[in-house]
Amino acid sequence: MKIQAIDTTPQLWAGDCLAIGLFEEQVEQSQHFIAIDQTLDGLLQEIVSESEFKGKSGETTWLRSPSSKTIARKIVLIGLGKPDAWTLEGLRQAAATGVRTAQKQKAKTVGLALPLCHNNAQLSAGAIAEGIELSLHQDNRFKSEPEANGSKQYIEQVDVLGVGMQADAIAKAQQVSAGVILARELVNAPANVVTPMSLADTAAQLAQELELTLEILEKEQCEALGMGAFLGVAQASDMPPKFIHLTYKPQGTPARKLAIIGKGLTFDSGGLNIKPTGSGIETMKMDMGGAAATLGAAKAIGTLKPNVEVHFIVAATENMISGHAIHPGDILTASNGKTIEINNTDAEGRLTLADALVFAEKLGVDAIVDLATLTGACIVALGNDIAGVWSPQDDLATALLSASEQAGEKMWRMPLEDKYFEGLKSPIADMKNTGPRPGGSITAALFLKQFVQKTAWAHLDVAGPVWTEKESGYHNVGATGFGVRTLVNWVLS
Ligand code: BES
Ligand code: MN
Ligand code: ZN
Repeated sequence: MKIQAIDTTPQLWAGDCLAIGLFEEQVEQSQHFIAIDQTLDGLLQEIVSESEFKGKSGETTWLRSPSSKTIARKIVLIGLGKPDAWTLEGLRQAAATGVRTAQKQKAKTVGLALPLCHNNAQLSAGAIAEGIELSLHQDNRFKSEPEANGSKQYIEQVDVLGVGMQADAIAKAQQVSAGVILARELVNAPANVVTPMSLADTAAQLAQELELTLEILEKEQCEALGMGAFLGVAQASDMPPKFIHLTYKPQGTPARKLAIIGKGLTFDSGGLNIKPTGSGIETMKMDMGGAAATLGAAKAIGTLKPNVEVHFIVAATENMISGHAIHPGDILTASNGKTIEINNTDAEGRLTLADALVFAEKLGVDAIVDLATLTGACIVALGNDIAGVWSPQDDLATALLSASEQAGEKMWRMPLEDKYFEGLKSPIADMKNTGPRPGGSITAALFLKQFVQKTAWAHLDVAGPVWTEKESGYHNVGATGFGVRTLVNWVLS
């Protein structure tokens, strides 16, 4: 599919389907509306009245233009809501509504006329292109007939009207979207397809394509580094763990050095504290959503080539049960020497992250961000759409929140309440891995903090937003690719 910005006005654009965005309470005053209504001798006005189209956000109506007219064959009107609430996220979603409607109409060529946001043509064109790419991405890899049930992709070309010449902004949005789509595909694929080995293979592919440096630490090398926490989680799996360290280095001296760590549990059974039926065990292929975002960001950043050195780190494994599984009550020693009493084997993500954080800090980076599907408690706190952010550093938290705002990925800062660490105190080891139920996402963050000494660090709990059960905006059912765009914005900022 091709996306291009062109300078044609909507009433002169010819093709299968033209989608026009209209603000609430200003439908009939819109220049595009007036011009097209004139060409169509009042037909547009008629459909607006008949369908009571008000321009409310998400509302749509459409008509087929008479074949005697040299204008788009079908015209779709998209409600944008109130103009004072117009955002880049509104643009992404309106673009998604436009192309989704056109796709249902089996259009091959689509024109999109949407108002600029903040009068910024570059950002607007980028947001539109993201909305198009991400809403049209469908994951049919596991269907025996990928094109059945209306999932055939009809759209071949989308012309973005009214943003001027924005080829670079569109190309950048497509590169970032390719990273998001990689993340979605990694999360969507089941645990018998995406394994620690296959994650390492994906990293190797990225390394080759984008000239990144790749280091895969095998179990023995992790042992030599004393990664007892990570290896404890991995010990019941028949699959070998892989500690993935992918590096992007710009030419010359980088302005900053950063590390991104993603939780990479390709399946989380809970271990001997096995997840009971009803706890969502069948969705635990998604427990590598942080790793997926990390590799998706690596793909985008390796393509965009900013002047920033970035380390992408995933301690990949499964959390399984077998005769050599960790027992509840076992004590593990992490690579910084700290000892952990495992009072719940299902709190495994933080154990893998502990050794990854210690590893990242040794690289001498300026800041570390980890992303993890870490706790159900974070979903209880913030719901399915919002990720939690924890950081001792206000400036890092602010930078991430602003990157996420720009991306339209919702995040909310949560407290690192030191007093709650009491809940993790162990009579026999330095700490337990699980605290009491109340504030469960906070004690998880406090646990991670034990493994960072002096580097600026932020933790993102993405357990809710990496997955969605319903199609909405530019997301389809399944993996959302959450985190990639925030990470890219943060690295580029
Ligand atoms: N991977 C889960 C968290 C999770 C839950 C992610 C739901 C996505 C959706 C994590 O490893 C886990 O099991 N956490 C436990 C922690 C508890 C044992 C302290 C949880 O949230 O119940
Ligand atoms: Mn778990
Ligand atoms: Zn988990």
